[in-house]
Amino acid sequence: MATLRFSSRPWAAFLFVLGLICVLLSPAVAVKENDFKKCEQSGFCKRNRAYADNVASHGSAWASPYKVLPEQVSFKDGSLNAIVLKAIDDQGATVELPLTVSFLKSGTARVTVDEKLRQQKSIELRHGSQARKERYNEAEGWAIVGGLDVDSEATIASQGDAGIKITYGPNAAFEADITYSPFTVAFKRDGVTQVKLNDRGFMNMEHWRPKLEKTTKPEGEESGEGNTSEPAPSNDESTWWDETFGGNTDSKPRGPESVALDITFHGYEHVYGIPEHTGPMSLRETRGGEGNFEEPYRLYNSDVFEYILNSPMTLYGAIPFMQAQRKDSTVGVFWLNAAETWVDITKAKEAKNPLALGIGAKTNTHTHWISESGLMDIFVFLGPSPRDVLKSYTELTGTTAMPQEFAIGYHQCRWNYVSDDDVKEVDRKFDKFNIPYDVIWLDIEYTDDKKYFTWQSDMFKDPISMGEQLDAHGRKLVTIIDPHIKNVGGYHVSDELKSKGLAVKNKEGKDFDGWCWPGSSHWIDAFNPAAIEWWTSLFKYASFKGTMKNTFVWNDMNEPSVFNGPEVTMPKDNLHHGGWEHRDVHNINGMTFHNATYTALLSREKGELRRPFVLTRSFYSGSQRLGAMWTGDNQASWEHLGAAVPMILAQGISGFPFAGADVGGFFGNPELDLQARWFQAGAFYPFFRGHAHIDARRREPYLLAEPHRSIITAALRLRYALLPAWYTAFFHANQDGSPIVRPMYWTHPSEEAGFDIDDQFFVGSTGLLVKPVVEKDKTSADIFIPDDELYFDYFTYKKLATHKGKHVTVDAPLESIPVLMRGGHIFPRRDIPRRSSQLMKFDDYTLVVVIGKDGKAEGELYVDDGDSFDYESGQFVHKTFTLDGSTFTSANAGGRDASSVKKGSWLKQFDNVAVDKIIFVNAPSKWSSKKEVEIESGGNKTPVSLDFHKAEGGRAAFAVLGRVGAKISADFSVDFS
Ligand code: GLC
Repeated sequence: MATLRFSSRPWAAFLFVLGLICVLLSPAVAVKENDFKKCEQSGFCKRNRAYADNVASHGSAWASPYKVLPEQVSFKDGSLNAIVLKAIDDQGATVELPLTVSFLKSGTARVTVDEKLRQQKSIELRHGSQARKERYNEAEGWAIVGGLDVDSEATIASQGDAGIKITYGPNAAFEADITYSPFTVAFKRDGVTQVKLNDRGFMNMEHWRPKLEKTTKPEGEESGEGNTSEPAPSNDESTWWDETFGGNTDSKPRGPESVALDITFHGYEHVYGIPEHTGPMSLRETRGGEGNFEEPYRLYNSDVFEYILNSPMTLYGAIPFMQAQRKDSTVGVFWLNAAETWVDITKAKEAKNPLALGIGAKTNTHTHWISESGLMDIFVFLGPSPRDVLKSYTELTGTTAMPQEFAIGYHQCRWNYVSDDDVKEVDRKFDKFNIPYDVIWLDIEYTDDKKYFTWQSDMFKDPISMGEQLDAHGRKLVTIIDPHIKNVGGYHVSDELKSKGLAVKNKEGKDFDGWCWPGSSHWIDAFNPAAIEWWTSLFKYASFKGTMKNTFVWNDMNEPSVFNGPEVTMPKDNLHHGGWEHRDVHNINGMTFHNATYTALLSREKGELRRPFVLTRSFYSGSQRLGAMWTGDNQASWEHLGAAVPMILAQGISGFPFAGADVGGFFGNPELDLQARWFQAGAFYPFFRGHAHIDARRREPYLLAEPHRSIITAALRLRYALLPAWYTAFFHANQDGSPIVRPMYWTHPSEEAGFDIDDQFFVGSTGLLVKPVVEKDKTSADIFIPDDELYFDYFTYKKLATHKGKHVTVDAPLESIPVLMRGGHIFPRRDIPRRSSQLMKFDDYTLVVVIGKDGKAEGELYVDDGDSFDYESGQFVHKTFTLDGSTFTSANAGGRDASSVKKGSWLKQFDNVAVDKIIFVNAPSKWSSKKEVEIESGGNKTPVSLDFHKAEGGRAAFAVLGRVGAKISADFSVDFS
């Protein structure tokens, strides 16, 4: 199957044959797995797992070699500084590891451990390497954008020879207990330990040492530098100084330098996060046993084509942020490290009463974090709610950028639309069949020989006329731009990259050359500010001819993917700007490229400042500030359809919610039902794009015969009708990091039965509960109900017989999507079908009020121009809607006085937008006698007709008020008494 990937690369005949031999020699799935390391094949992972096993086998007899020097502990202005001494032999030799524990205003604590000798650059590198000597200390510069102010109110609660206790956080409810010998830190909330670092003594920081040339030793005697207390397997020198995998040798000029730490979540049974992986959202144990993985979760951004499902294998992106959940409590940790990282997870019951083992036992989740290099740098979040944890994490790493509004519409992609005429024809066909879409995408074949910023001029003779046709229909174009630059003379981008010295270097300091789509290529080093500046110049409309204001960008292959590199990426001893080895920065690499493109798109001509739209495949903590991501090269199978929702949920709870999966499946040809079900699911992905491999058959929705075409059209129309609700959900994500699609634990952290549910979700705060059908021939859905509220079918208003903590079965024939409405919510909609979101910008609204069991409901609408940054200066409308007793009210959110805002052109035009109708689901029967009610707005009262429908069959009563006519931006109220 890997051959699919190579089929469009004539240059890759050699690789193809090699691939074919591999395919013939081993089972298909194993081919992909064997291209990537297992822990056992990654020297530092193997050593640290062995270290942990050795520690565990010693039980309480283990003496951790890490101790804090009490006399050097100082605490001032919310920060503690100390030295951790690591004992490295039996004769008392130690190395110094500077420790900082800082307490941040947000209530987050940060623990950073460095290594003095490397910090002072007092080490020697081998092979004459030009690499930096320090542990990588710039991850913060890329990932963190705020929230680092220290809390000067943090205070010492007690201090002695054994340790120090600091109280901090909101109402001084948090405490950090630092024990000196061995070094541990317990984080408590309200006096109870929640998170403990080095709880099991697995902390390991491989200190710098010179390579000692070996003298032959008698057999059986340990090799290695000094006689450390470390056991042999964890001290296995064979991968200290170089390491070979798949025929590639890593020269490791700095020797062993891994950092590892165990972190226990006390009393927590579920942990979530650390994307990107396939598999359940509630992470599995990784040390074997029934139903568990054998391998740690790996974070090493990689181009894993045809990835396997339900696996801890690494994928394209990495977010080293994990949260733990128990009833009514959420806590989290963020492991700020950009190097290859592995995370082991185990769970153990701990009896509250040792004499009654098993009775009242609580589960602790043990995690073991292992990175190849860099600082040990951990942020600890003590919640207590999932919202608190995500808010604190995104205060550090930033929240989702407000998107271009079109970007939450439907995107039509394939590899490839072959010409400008092809694009125009697809665009016309969507219109002919009345199917809405916003964006059409061009994959790599639009370029002249994979030279980005050029056009294949035979096929794309007139890109401007293509862009103009799209623009006339309110549509956009996205072109792919990858980070590999074809290594060929006379290509201006390549020539400039080389002459300006902006490419990533190999270990000798020469421009690194590798293979990707264009053949021999160099890679832009987007860590370099000068490279970002140069990259920005390439996107100017005047430079990238053929692009227009409605052209946006797709960044792919930015892990980076290097077809002939180790594990399909760059050698770890490559060098980046500032002399950092690729090893140190690998997981951030994709984000820096995404950042360069984002920066470039902010302004493509003088005077312009617009929200960019850039899709990325590779990502890190912080990428949410720059655009959207998708889950890469999935397959047109039911299993991949099922795998997408947990992956998208994992993104959302990890601070990067603008996520989607290739609708229809990238590889292969989806059967018709699968395609229909995938569009129904995709209509509820935050990022909604259909995409297909070059060898896949055309599958634009209009090509399908009935009933599938209508089914897909209906799913697309539903997405478009709900765009105001989606945009409001993006606004919330932008404000406080909340996920756009929300799993049950996140919305209902008290309801334990929902903690491992990852196949259904709420959309923002709309109360819409969705469970896409992901199985062949399935015509019903069992939806978990997390509370005592009322639930209604979205389409029929049928009131469902639900019970808290139980599943309810709803019919879901192929043409229907299981969507419920939770009582108590109000959400906005736009009901006039149009061709694109731009054409809906000034349409009137429908409000849907789903009356809860207490007779109340509330909701919101946020709207702005969807394009500029003018919302930052007040050019937006944000309303809250409430139904309380017998009054419905629409008011400015947060008591905002919008009258002081000087209206720009968008706000002025938006002033004419009105509420068309308000639908009240579960309307009280006492409204049945009313034919008319009064709307009050700005002192004027207007009668409006009310059309009441009494409950019938299983359907709830409902009432339709309209035409309302009140301006959406004005305050108004309706009296039903
Ligand atoms: C990668 C991308 C895929 C794209 C292809 C060609 O495989 O993941 O989406 O179509 O490259 O650019």
